[in-house]
Amino acid sequence: MRIILFGPPGSGKGTQGDLVEKRYGFPKISTGDLLRQAVQDQTPLGRKAEEIMNQGRLVSDDLVEELVQERIKSPDCRRGYLLDGFPRNLAQAQSLERMNGGRAEIAVEIDIDMTTLVRRLESRRVCSSCGTIYNLLVQSLGKKGRCDICGGPLYQRKDDNPEVIKERFRVYREQTEKLRGFYKAKDVYRQIEGSGPVEEVFSRLSAVLDAELAELGENKALG
Ligand code: AP5
Repeated sequence: MRIILFGPPGSGKGTQGDLVEKRYGFPKISTGDLLRQAVQDQTPLGRKAEEIMNQGRLVSDDLVEELVQERIKSPDCRRGYLLDGFPRNLAQAQSLERMNGGRAEIAVEIDIDMTTLVRRLESRRVCSSCGTIYNLLVQSLGKKGRCDICGGPLYQRKDDNPEVIKERFRVYREQTEKLRGFYKAKDVYRQIEGSGPVEEVFSRLSAVLDAELAELGENKALG
């Protein structure tokens, strides 16, 4: 199964994607993470993407599509995968149809109010070593601002500042919200409420996925 997780910046796609990977075994493919890795490694793609990401705009479709196309060829994606942050507009959604088409899919939108989103983004920290996502408002930062899991140093994303956050929301409203109509027309659209503790949101998401997997005849007791 292909799970498309979308929602505004800070809605919890990355956090929930990690939990889905752990429980259901569908690898999380985050285009944001892949691009940040390319920037960190200063690959040709990373050098092209860096400036655009720091401004909160979208990296060009062909670059991102190539990243996804390559990633979903890996053997771990054979049974299915979860896309976090892709597609981001209608052109990318159409391109995804051409990749690995015919696969059962579900598109889940995480719905949440703006005030909560801004608060979450401004208090996000990420482990530079293992990628674990933290929120300063709900988690203590353990050993002096280092990751509780691997001890790596935590950092604040460059695009998590008020000006860039505003631009990311504008881009979301202008381009990504159109996915709602696209997936509704395919009859694969679902929506979950994204507020409340992480575990509460995950149980809403799991209920949707379990129902879908049951319909596909897959084993619910994975992981
Ligand atoms: P990307 O990394 O995808 O950023 P985004 O969509 O803006 O989403 P975020 O990662 O900011 O938020 P999230 O929903 O994953 O929330 P998270 O779980 O971290 O993209 C970054 C950039 O890359 C784009 O701007 C663009 O330039 C480029 N890009 C990426 N994909 C692209 C594409 N397809 N095409 C073109 N360009 C692309 O949670 C946020 C915070 O809230 C964390 O601190 C977390 O701990 C906390 N939190 C989460 N859930 C809860 C909860 N229930 N309660 C309390 N705190 C919570």
